[in-house]
Amino acid sequence: MASIRDVAKAAGVSLGTVSNAINRPEVLAPLTLRKVQKVIEDMGFVPNASARNLRAGRNRVIGLIVPDISNPFFTALAMGVNDAAFAAKYVVILCNTDESTDKESQYLEVLSAQNVEGILITPARETIRALAKVAEKGIRLALVDRPALGLQACSVAVNDSYGGSLALTHLHELGHRKILLLTGSEDIPQVADRNAGIRESMKEISANQLPQIMELRLDSMSASNAYDAMMKKIESGVDFTGIICGNDLIALGAIRALREKNIAVPEDVSVIGYDDIDFAGSASVPLTSISQPAFELGYAAAELIISECENPERHVHQRIEFQPRLVVRSSTAPTKAHRANLRIS
Ligand code: RIB
Repeated sequence: MASIRDVAKAAGVSLGTVSNAINRPEVLAPLTLRKVQKVIEDMGFVPNASARNLRAGRNRVIGLIVPDISNPFFTALAMGVNDAAFAAKYVVILCNTDESTDKESQYLEVLSAQNVEGILITPARETIRALAKVAEKGIRLALVDRPALGLQACSVAVNDSYGGSLALTHLHELGHRKILLLTGSEDIPQVADRNAGIRESMKEISANQLPQIMELRLDSMSASNAYDAMMKKIESGVDFTGIICGNDLIALGAIRALREKNIAVPEDVSVIGYDDIDFAGSASVPLTSISQPAFELGYAAAELIISECENPERHVHQRIEFQPRLVVRSSTAPTKAHRANLRIS
């Protein structure tokens, strides 16, 4: 017996379109409706509970899959998704992958089986190919905090390459020439893009002013992981005057280690974070950071996926990109040498 998925695949349309052909033919373009009705007839498909459920599957439920809900960046993003969903009378199923691609795959399967109407995802790693397979099954996807690249889907992201260049340029302008890059794996797309931005901005610097960048990779982008790594790094010698951190949690962990080792921030070492989470401004040393509009990212992504759910036939995928911005607080300052030069000049 042909299933509704078989009909969708054969007609080259989404599950929602087959459901609409059965339950709400009036919303479909005539050509599409006739195409689906012919496939239903040819396959002898008889709408059963799954089709009716799919009608009920106008269940106004969307899924949100994020890599680390303990990171206030993703908490704010989830709040944006939730507010946009509430405004459209949708509800959200929140899934946290702990940056695991295995968990991510399992959540995609569970949400598909739940017949959610659409899924928002911040991929834990570069998993565009895996997501393309999910989309082929007729599951509506939209990427949040990640450009869709080759995927036929909406996306809302931040120009992370520009964000990386803002961080490097800020420390360089303060005279820092020995900089530690403390961040996660470059398998994490946001990290790769930020590091690429740092490398790009290095090309704009004259050879005699080039900073030396030392990289220290973390297993996870958490404050505790950064604290442990920094305590070890300090033991081996502080051969840097500035630290560019992969996100604010890393920056907070690094500052905790530096202060425990009586290294003054920013007088001895400047620290810049990324995200500008709510706590950044009230940290033990108010954190200079690269601000991302987390709430707006989530709100915009939810609006896009809901628009697609409401009108699949007329929906056109959109790619939205926000720009990050530098927020200067007291965790960064000119180096001692730079301050001396400023006094002389
Ligand atoms: O998930 C790693 C980082 O990417 C987060 O801290 C946030 O910056 C996101 O964009």
